[in-house]
Amino acid sequence: MDDARTQAMPATDCAFAPTADPAWLLVEEGFTLAREHEIESLFAVSNGYVGTRGSLAEGSPLSAPATFVAGIFDCDPGDPVPALAVAPDWMQLRGSVDGSEVKLDQSTTLAHRRILDLKQGIFWREWLFQDPSGRISRLHGLRFASLADRHVLVQSMLFTPVNHSGRVHLEIGLDPPADEPGRVELMPAAPAGGAAAGPAQQLVLRTRRGTAVIFAAVNRLRVCGSAAAAPLQRARHESGETWTLDVEMGRTYRFDRVVVVYTSRDVPQPEQAATQHLERLRSVDTDALIAAHVHAWAARWQHAEVAVAGDDAAQRALRFACYHLIAAANAEDERVSIGARALTGASYKGHVFWDTEIFMLPFYVFTDPPTARALLMYRYHTLPAARAKAQRLGYRGALYAWESADTGEEVTPLYAIAPDGQVLQVLSGQQEQHISADIAYAVWQYWQATHDADFLLHAGAEIIFETARFWASRVEPGADGRDHIRRIMGPDEYHEGVDDNAYTNTMAQWNLECALELAALLEKCWPAQWAGLAGRLGLDEAELRQWRDTARRLYTGVDPQTGLIEQFRGYYQLEDIDLSACERGLAMDVLLGQARVQQSRIVKQADVLMLVHLLWERIPPAARVANFRFYEPRTAHGSSLSPAIHALLAARLGDTELALSYFRQAAEIDLSNKMGNAAGGVHAAALGGLWQAAVFGFAGMDLRPDGLAFAPHLPAGWQALSFAVQWRGRRLRVRIEPALVELGAEGPAPLMVAVADAAPVKLAPGQRRRWQRVARDSWKEVPHE
Ligand code: BGC
Repeated sequence: MDDARTQAMPATDCAFAPTADPAWLLVEEGFTLAREHEIESLFAVSNGYVGTRGSLAEGSPLSAPATFVAGIFDCDPGDPVPALAVAPDWMQLRGSVDGSEVKLDQSTTLAHRRILDLKQGIFWREWLFQDPSGRISRLHGLRFASLADRHVLVQSMLFTPVNHSGRVHLEIGLDPPADEPGRVELMPAAPAGGAAAGPAQQLVLRTRRGTAVIFAAVNRLRVCGSAAAAPLQRARHESGETWTLDVEMGRTYRFDRVVVVYTSRDVPQPEQAATQHLERLRSVDTDALIAAHVHAWAARWQHAEVAVAGDDAAQRALRFACYHLIAAANAEDERVSIGARALTGASYKGHVFWDTEIFMLPFYVFTDPPTARALLMYRYHTLPAARAKAQRLGYRGALYAWESADTGEEVTPLYAIAPDGQVLQVLSGQQEQHISADIAYAVWQYWQATHDADFLLHAGAEIIFETARFWASRVEPGADGRDHIRRIMGPDEYHEGVDDNAYTNTMAQWNLECALELAALLEKCWPAQWAGLAGRLGLDEAELRQWRDTARRLYTGVDPQTGLIEQFRGYYQLEDIDLSACERGLAMDVLLGQARVQQSRIVKQADVLMLVHLLWERIPPAARVANFRFYEPRTAHGSSLSPAIHALLAARLGDTELALSYFRQAAEIDLSNKMGNAAGGVHAAALGGLWQAAVFGFAGMDLRPDGLAFAPHLPAGWQALSFAVQWRGRRLRVRIEPALVELGAEGPAPLMVAVADAAPVKLAPGQRRRWQRVARDSWKEVPHE
């Protein structure tokens, strides 16, 4: 019997276990119905292709199981806004023991624990329960989305009757997703190749736009540590299978389910691909699938780990962040990007925002460049939609969608319901145009860090030129001789339709200057490719001159005396509401009303301060401090994107106490559900922000033209911060202690490194060098012991 195999197994075969070191585990003890939805988000498993929430296999009154496949969007009839569609509940498993249903609410729980194993990328569950007749049983199992083979999902459950023998019935479902309000589900469809033959269960679904999604499964049963076969009856029905087996007290029965997922986005014949893939897996033991997955995670962690000695909470938060960032991305698919809640929940409909490029991308750039490249290629493939949006609004070049799904068209909803029930018009789809400069910024950062010329020449340059072209057509000349950008919204969404948002204007200016620098670089280093690209885009000297003039004339709102940047024209005239008594992280537009907030200086999230972070090198040191001290008290952190950037900046400015408090605030957004909305999925941008707060903030990492620099400020209690970054094919290992920095290089060639004010040095492959703090911001190199 292949699919429902009954095999003899040595006892050790069933002895898989979570990582021994508890510092790698996120543990949820017991079961709190009210927290179930947020736990499902936090405990999601994903591999960037398919993601599944951490729901209970047998369900509960408040379970909302959902699986999402990257790039599979659909619309409900009557709603034009596409949403990431909910796929089948592939892990559904209901059982009964001698007629008594196995469910949390129908048994006495003696112990229940869910564990997210951040190191191995595995969701574990342990449950010891007693049914009303006194039968005690133990369930112990795992679930993962394979990082080694992205089309594969695995669930494994061990069942041990502790004090009884009897008859167990198992209902193994593979049902179309249940219809629930607030989400879009895939629809069942007839298989193109007729009903699935053979041992596999197969479910064919389709989006209303015609994309096919196939889930195919094989189920296996084994008895641990015994040569005896488990007695088994099987019945196949429309939505699954029913198994009956007689279980013996003290023995452990292992049920494995291997699911393969394909869509017509990936291959022309997904049903066939799924069948063939399952066929290939037929001879592969589930433990081999587990081992390959664990190995793939180990390889990824080798580059991604950020270790903090002396602060367990920070360590756990960083591991949790990196876990979800690794799980969110797929380097093998350059036609999808990461939604605001990744593949862990339905909030924001799976849409892609600037969150990806500005908050998450640096993690990939410095720990897994192929993933960063794939994410940027998504923006390259969606360039036609960005050009169409610009054209529709009467501009040239490329204006990216504020919210993007599969095609890159603008999918921002036009209305939203506020928590108080009010219907609000959403203007960000028209006005948050800074996204075009944000994407150009990310392309340039990737290029700086990787020197991936193939990407630059075939995709990146076009993005930078087309976004620059947009800005040159977007500005309006003013009577003051300056160029202005009017009717705009910056990152601070509390202020709509403003003129000259400093973030937007300065990033647009940066975008134009970057395009000019790039044109010169291409002309010098790749003249033939430059001529070809310029010819194809119709770029000529006159247009470059126009970009230069526009960049020079753009109004940026900087006070030359103080260095203070006015967030937008007229901002200083608004009501100054004192936020010191308010709990920040609350939606101020709801608390005080949209109209009052719009007329006040309350800022939703880092806006001018976002600029200080992104263009750090361009802003004089005194102006960095002045802007931070001005805007920080006025920022309400109504967006999850905000606290981590404040942590980063406070750390860079040496205010480590404030930095640590913002770092903890950012960490708690998901881990303590501090904004109350983790049920909709983890906040992927906040998680990317946490990584940046550690690396750019506490370690003070800076990208230099020929290498990397560090100006560290560790918070009290952090004994060491260690991580590795990749830079142009080299790997730099960084270890920072309060008064010591150690840098070690690996790779084919040396790189320049600098620590604060100490002279930059060339670090040869295999070499390690050390610096010692001599004063607050002053370091000197010391001999390596
Ligand atoms: C923030 C945006 C963000 C979006 C998705 C909004 O609340 O203001 O900056 O892109 O959420 O995370």
